[in-house]
Amino acid sequence: MRIHILSIFPEMFSPLNESIIKKAREKGLIEIDLVNFRDYTASKHKNVDDYPYGGGAGMVLKPEPIFAAVRNLSLKAQPKIVLMSPQGAVFSQETAQELAREEELVFICGHYEGFDERIRTLADMEISIGDYVLTGGELAAMVVIDSTVRLLPGVLGEAESSEDDSFAAGFLEYPQYTRPPEFEGMEVPAVLLSGDHARVAAWSRQAALRRTLLKRPEIFRPERLAAADFPLLRELMAEDERIRQLSVRWLSFEPLPRSKRSRRLELE
Ligand code: ADE
Repeated sequence: MRIHILSIFPEMFSPLNESIIKKAREKGLIEIDLVNFRDYTASKHKNVDDYPYGGGAGMVLKPEPIFAAVRNLSLKAQPKIVLMSPQGAVFSQETAQELAREEELVFICGHYEGFDERIRTLADMEISIGDYVLTGGELAAMVVIDSTVRLLPGVLGEAESSEDDSFAAGFLEYPQYTRPPEFEGMEVPAVLLSGDHARVAAWSRQAALRRTLLKRPEIFRPERLAAADFPLLRELMAEDERIRQLSVRWLSFEPLPRSKRSRRLELE
């Protein structure tokens, strides 16, 4: 994947020279092209911003340098152009998966009060990383790049695989423990030390369901529940009134047993 970043603060992107993203670059899985669009100003003072028409506080990024920088990119594929802005659609794991399918991406990072509205016509999408305002789009672009790049084949090792990422699956991850089995009076759940793989799997799955329902009920994806999840869900409902209230409606997603399924077909 080729990633072009347009920013007047290219030095801010040094975190992309660390850890997994650094390794992805070294392996040739991604290429990062930092472009300072201040280099594309025609004016003597290299101004990238100006006063807004109609008045108002702050400065606005001028269209010419950003248009010129985009037009001067050396592109190999048809890139998706992303404008980083608090007005964009809020970034999610799904958007990261969508971006990870692209061959080439361009990120435009603004600064100051905002963009001249005409800059928006360059963009295929506008992304916000959350409902708060940053001093510029640089940190936001790095968040988007980091979570996109880790999804590319070969970037993560087997051990850190992104396949069972919680948000992708619609459930939070189950609680995890490592040695020692007892730390300052806090014990690892006995089932995890039992060596009984089926019980460990059921316990972990139930713990993931519990966590999701209690911490992030809005990401719960009932259509991703397997038939074996429903008995676990019923146990959780009996255990906790909040879970019972949240979950009664999900029970309708339980697949019918095979025998009833064929009967239903006959009736139809
Ligand atoms: N620029 C300023 N705030 C931002 C945000 N929340 N997301 C993306 N870009 C931004």
